[in-house]
Amino acid sequence: GAPVEVDISKIAPGEMMTTEWRGKPVWIINRTDEMTAELTKHNDKLSDPNSDVTSQQPSYCKNPSRAIKPNLAVIVGICTHLGCSPSAKLQPKGDMGDSWTGGFSCPCHGSKFDLAGRVLKGSPAPINLVVPPYKYLADNTLLIG
Ligand code: FES
Repeated sequence: GAPVEVDISKIAPGEMMTTEWRGKPVWIINRTDEMTAELTKHNDKLSDPNSDVTSQQPSYCKNPSRAIKPNLAVIVGICTHLGCSPSAKLQPKGDMGDSWTGGFSCPCHGSKFDLAGRVLKGSPAPINLVVPPYKYLADNTLLIG
């Protein structure tokens, strides 16, 4: 499939949009500073906090935010268990438990993911969600793929 150009200028802090790439939903989340700061606070609850499974993100996204710019997440919205699409539980709707600012929950078998797409321990999904290859064409323009 062809790369997809996306205008991210309209995503308010704390909100997200969904686009499509290669027939798959891709979430783009404009994480607030609070959300971004939280990404290093729950490592003990994550199966792969350091993104060591190299198939799940480009090498330039193997970092605590799994992103090029820490505030902006780009994640393929397909559960790594059996392929359902997880639902967003962004603040203030977060139901991830005490002190979480939000994440994603899969309606099929209950896998949970943080705001970087990292899977919580105990989920049926074995590995983190995929971060697709992408780059910035301009401050507010992404090219996915
Ligand atoms: Fe998501 Fe099974 S497909 S938990």
